[in-house]
Amino acid sequence: MSDVAEFQDRLLSLGLARVSEAAAIASARLIGRGDEKAADQAAVNAMREQLNLLDIAGVVVIGEGERDEAPMLYIGEEVGTGRGPAVDIALDPLEGTTLTAKDMPNALTVIAMAPRGTLLHAPDVYMDKLAIGPAYAPDTVTLDMPPAARVRALARAKGVAADEIAVCILDRPRHEAMIAEVRATGAAIRLITDGDVAGVMHCAEPDVTGIDMYMGSGGAPEGVLAASALKCMGGQIYGRLLFRNDEERARAAKAGITDLNRVYTRGDMVRGDVIFAATGVTQGSLLRGIKLGHGWVECETILMRSKTGSVRRVSYRAPLRA
Ligand code: FBP
Repeated sequence: MSDVAEFQDRLLSLGLARVSEAAAIASARLIGRGDEKAADQAAVNAMREQLNLLDIAGVVVIGEGERDEAPMLYIGEEVGTGRGPAVDIALDPLEGTTLTAKDMPNALTVIAMAPRGTLLHAPDVYMDKLAIGPAYAPDTVTLDMPPAARVRALARAKGVAADEIAVCILDRPRHEAMIAEVRATGAAIRLITDGDVAGVMHCAEPDVTGIDMYMGSGGAPEGVLAASALKCMGGQIYGRLLFRNDEERARAAKAGITDLNRVYTRGDMVRGDVIFAATGVTQGSLLRGIKLGHGWVECETILMRSKTGSVRRVSYRAPLRA
């Protein structure tokens, strides 16, 4: 590979922010309009268009689904001009389609880029996830611990009582027992209706977000995106794929996964350096939401590089095109 084709993450990161911004801006007019599909489609179109302007030889490894179910940004789609480094792309053009349609907090556009072959090709199945912030030793909490034990272990490590720990969990019937167990410890729970990439990212900045730990099952692709974010921000995430039927096990086989019970650490999901960008769509605790004014649009993007641990919050304002 020539020098030019190396993973110049410093140069590529601004391009990645543009891709994320474009998707968010495209979905702005669909915030609160009750149409998840239209909002998602607008974000997909814009993200793909911008991505194809980047000088990369990119392959989508986490995308909108398999080729037969997603015509754009499907897993395996080649993106970019083809002139540049070979990279893996993980993306979710609109993470929180329902949040956007209902104008609820923390909908984001999300994209990560890493050298080819370094991001986990997670199949579109559920993943049991557990995440904590940067201040703790590895394995302070584990997926094998029951929820209450995780709270107590984290409280011990933080040097506080269990009732000073706050946990973020997706509000789903499948999490009822987990929620009850965590509540019994006295810990606080922030229930979210969607958007577990943001949920996990909250753990990296507990002083800002008030969240110490994320747990529960959600999409495996979102797990890889969250791992990419934590690789830049600091913090740990563990994930175990969950399979409900043979069709889902076949998806894993197609992605080259043979050990169905494996616990993936952050390093297993993101094996090298990564750059990550997310733009706020609706107002959130990590990022401001899109603002539309008379003839202008404004948005905020978090842009991060794992190589340096740099975290930028980039504010962007531009005239609106007709
Ligand atoms: P969408 O943006 O595709 O609607 O996904 C939102 C989301 O909440 C993810 O953040 C999460 O991982 C997943 O859906 C949870 O799945 P489910 O709604 O089936 O519990």
